[in-house]
Amino acid sequence: MTKQNSIRVDEQQGILRLDTANTTYVMGISNGLYLGHLYYGAKIPADDLSYRTALTTPMSPENIKKDFCVYMDSTDFEYPGWGIGDSREGAIKVRDALGSTRTNLIYKGYRISSSKALIPGLPATFASESDPEDVSTLEVDLQDPDTGLLVTLFYSAFWAEDIIARHVEVRNEGKNELVLERVLSASVDMRETDRQGKDLRLMTFYGIWAREFTKEIREIGHGRTGVSSIIGKTNNRAQPFLGLVSQDITQVSGEVYGLNFLYSGNFASMVEKNPNGGLRVSVGIHPEEFSWHLAPGEVFYAPEVVMTYSCCGLGKMSRNFHDLYRKHLIRGSYKDRKRPILINNWEATYFDFDTEKLLAIAKKAKECGIEMLVMDDGWFGKRNDPDSSLGDWWVNEEKLTGGLARLGRELEDMGMKFGIWFEPEMVSPDSELYRTHPDWAIAVPGREPSRSRNQLVLDVSREEVRDHIFNSMYKVLTSTKISYVKWDMNRHLTDLYSAGLPDCRQGELLHRFVLGVYDLQQRLLTAFPDLLLENCSSGGARFDPGMLYFSPQIWTSDDTDAYERIRIQEGAQMLYPLSCLGAHVSVCPNHVTGRVVPFKTRGHIALSGTFGYELDITKLSEEEHEMIRQQTAMYHKYNDLIRTGDFYRMASFRENGFFDCYGVVSKDKSEMLLTFIHVMNQPCMPTRWISIQGLDPDKLYAVEQVDDSTIGPSEQVTDATRKVCQAHGATLAHAGLIVPCRYGDFQSVLYRISEVKE
Ligand code: DGJ
Repeated sequence: MTKQNSIRVDEQQGILRLDTANTTYVMGISNGLYLGHLYYGAKIPADDLSYRTALTTPMSPENIKKDFCVYMDSTDFEYPGWGIGDSREGAIKVRDALGSTRTNLIYKGYRISSSKALIPGLPATFASESDPEDVSTLEVDLQDPDTGLLVTLFYSAFWAEDIIARHVEVRNEGKNELVLERVLSASVDMRETDRQGKDLRLMTFYGIWAREFTKEIREIGHGRTGVSSIIGKTNNRAQPFLGLVSQDITQVSGEVYGLNFLYSGNFASMVEKNPNGGLRVSVGIHPEEFSWHLAPGEVFYAPEVVMTYSCCGLGKMSRNFHDLYRKHLIRGSYKDRKRPILINNWEATYFDFDTEKLLAIAKKAKECGIEMLVMDDGWFGKRNDPDSSLGDWWVNEEKLTGGLARLGRELEDMGMKFGIWFEPEMVSPDSELYRTHPDWAIAVPGREPSRSRNQLVLDVSREEVRDHIFNSMYKVLTSTKISYVKWDMNRHLTDLYSAGLPDCRQGELLHRFVLGVYDLQQRLLTAFPDLLLENCSSGGARFDPGMLYFSPQIWTSDDTDAYERIRIQEGAQMLYPLSCLGAHVSVCPNHVTGRVVPFKTRGHIALSGTFGYELDITKLSEEEHEMIRQQTAMYHKYNDLIRTGDFYRMASFRENGFFDCYGVVSKDKSEMLLTFIHVMNQPCMPTRWISIQGLDPDKLYAVEQVDDSTIGPSEQVTDATRKVCQAHGATLAHAGLIVPCRYGDFQSVLYRISEVKE
């Protein structure tokens, strides 16, 4: 099996099979009619798996006829229908002209292609230009003979990344309109235990504002459980990710199945444990508040789910997702490029700024090696607090004398790039836009809509609303040279009603809203192909792989406290590449927590994200300015490695309560940057022992300390303290590295581990 024949179909046996470098996924036709699920897990040889169809269909054809409901309820299906005997979670439910929701999908045929389809209007993984053979696609058609509904399941195997990407297209080939009431993107019927026979556990990530990405592992009881969002966007309360893990899962051992959803709206990522054995995993648009009218000939596209399996721990799952997103999802001119080091004025000034203040920040920032000023909220309309002006995207000349043109010009003269904040999907009731177009806000006619942060949501499902937003942004972005946009989104969707939809189609609003957001971001990127877009939503409340298709980076959290960031970034790094995690150094005491962490440590922690600053640099000491110079130099030295390398977590402060350690290794294994954070000091604990993962066991490496938070600018690292040892990768993995503990809390140190040619 090679990547050239990663999809094979045995028509005689009715077996359809996908392989990646280390995994296998197999389906089979059950009872001559239904598409059954046979296997997903570690790579297995190309044996005849038809004996497994007997397992998914443990009944003779005569008995199936007599007791069809038992057959339906005990078979492993690939994309279960509705109302025909399967009492587990259905993947699709369609109401027909009779008013019935019976949805009976019969296997019809398949196609194989050596490419990867894009999905109209939605984010999707794609084949890389440099290695188009890395992905092949299997399309399987299922049809309901009674309604004419044709469902095509797409399975793309990304060979090197061990990823199966799935999405669904639903076409009405019947004569009557159909109403889709649920169209999930993936369903997987699988065993409930790992290979040791122990029950798999559910791994998810929960959070809240400023506390995003908290990993949780729980037992799976009988019935349905999981994570979801019903607020119209993805949510800081739950990532759309769902993992099934062995009880003894670690970074380097144990089994894990991980599924993530490329979508930025309501979702349900659920697992159901069945009394007759097995788990059913289902991921898709949340069926609550969803319905879609499909006229004859029309097609509905359900968003993509990406799945991976690792039998060697969580670290491999993370690296599979990181590689997939970096190579096959993130696009645009910054896909593989270093991002400018930015300074954002939000925590420096909040709403209280003017041109002079911004230029003073920019001037000092430039002197310290920072490359771009980002002007955050408060530059437009008459906005001096969160109570007004969203939607009025013209500059407030009382604050910014000379307008954006002057600010842009002076920044350019200084050699600084310029970035700007928008919250395009929103409108303040106190705004010119709302006074002119009150019906453009999402609200139920005649009822007072709920405000949040004193703002309402614009109905971007409507084309005229999108046109207006795009034109307003276009005007701003062409008024001076702007290199970056921070696209914010600070509330839930409530009071659901669109003046642009007939009453019977109100259930389409939330999905049309998400499609509208994607359309707007795509229009922006098409008009400004060199623009660096950073998505944000009250911190990380819309941090999902769907948004990564449009912006190569997303603001991870409004909590910039480096100590909190250790935990938040650990969660985020488990699912997303470091290159996309918005991370800034901010001032202490931290504005969210009041905590004080050494400046160097703040720098080290932000370095494993996009890197930037969020403070009033004009108020810092000369010593801190000097540290910024060192940090910006370090960013230039190590960002290529951090952005493109393989991530290995070697210790978790979340788990051990004292220290954190992770490293990024170059793809050729010639170099690693290791970050050790001694978070909490502990008496009588002079050293910590770290097994260094990810190096080539046979290569010889030099380990040197390159930056230490206990050493200030006046206390230079000497050759004696810098050079730690020379050892082979195998020695560093097994005998490990000894890291001296630091005096005080929140101390950190960076090590560079580089290959020595023997
Ligand atoms: C929420 C964002 O997360 C912050 O970074 C900041 O941009 C504010 N909104 C501005 O209102």
